[in-house]
Amino acid sequence: MMKGKITMKEKKNMNVIEAITTRRSVRAYTDELIDRDTLVELVRLGTLAASGSNMQPWGFVILQGKDLIAQHDKVLKADLLTNLEKYPHLQQYRGGLENPRFSPLNNASNMILIYGCPKSHYYKIDCTLAAANIMFAGREIGIENCWVGFGEYYFNSPAFKTDLGVPEDYDLVCAMTIGYPAKPIKQGPTRKEPIIFNLD
Ligand SMILES: Cc1cc2nc3c(=O)[nH]c(=O)nc-3n(C[C@H](O)[C@H](O)[C@H](O)COP(=O)(O)O)c2cc1C
Repeated sequence: MMKGKITMKEKKNMNVIEAITTRRSVRAYTDELIDRDTLVELVRLGTLAASGSNMQPWGFVILQGKDLIAQHDKVLKADLLTNLEKYPHLQQYRGGLENPRFSPLNNASNMILIYGCPKSHYYKIDCTLAAANIMFAGREIGIENCWVGFGEYYFNSPAFKTDLGVPEDYDLVCAMTIGYPAKPIKQGPTRKEPIIFNLD
């Protein structure tokens, strides 16, 4: 149960296993802005994650506004296309990125960015655990998300970080779009059978 100031449009009463089983990356949201206190509370719940040596090496940025995020989307997309040869893992998405209708940031109205302090050895793991907390806490109140790896470079650029007050040495770990889904969540890609090395 959430304890902070949360605006609950919809309380799902999911248990944890159901929340894990029915989670999907959501890439189409309503234009609604999530209530600011609710987002801040989701971030706080993120910080309840485990962290190596309890370093809690995270810092967050909240972005809100469809137009604002669309502006970032435009620049991010142009940057990716210009520099695609530097990013071998993204080259498979060239076609999509060249499509003028494709929005790497899912035409979202809300985003949470999670930065980690590299002075802490486990910062990437810690920030990823915080992201997972946010993902699942949101689910309880009908708020879904998508981790957007496409944002990896743009949101970590010195220009963006300076603008948003992110200390220069902090490293982007997770950019997620977040919001109320525009349509019911469908069953997603099936999973491979787990490989259990000592049992298979
Ligand atoms: C590190 C990471 C990066 C991702 N980057 C993107 C992305 O840029 N765009 C996107 O639409 N989905 C992205 N995803 C979502 C994955 O495509 C998705 O998790 C995967 O296809 C499984 O689908 P599901 O999350 O619905 O179960 C990313 C997920 C992770 C964990």
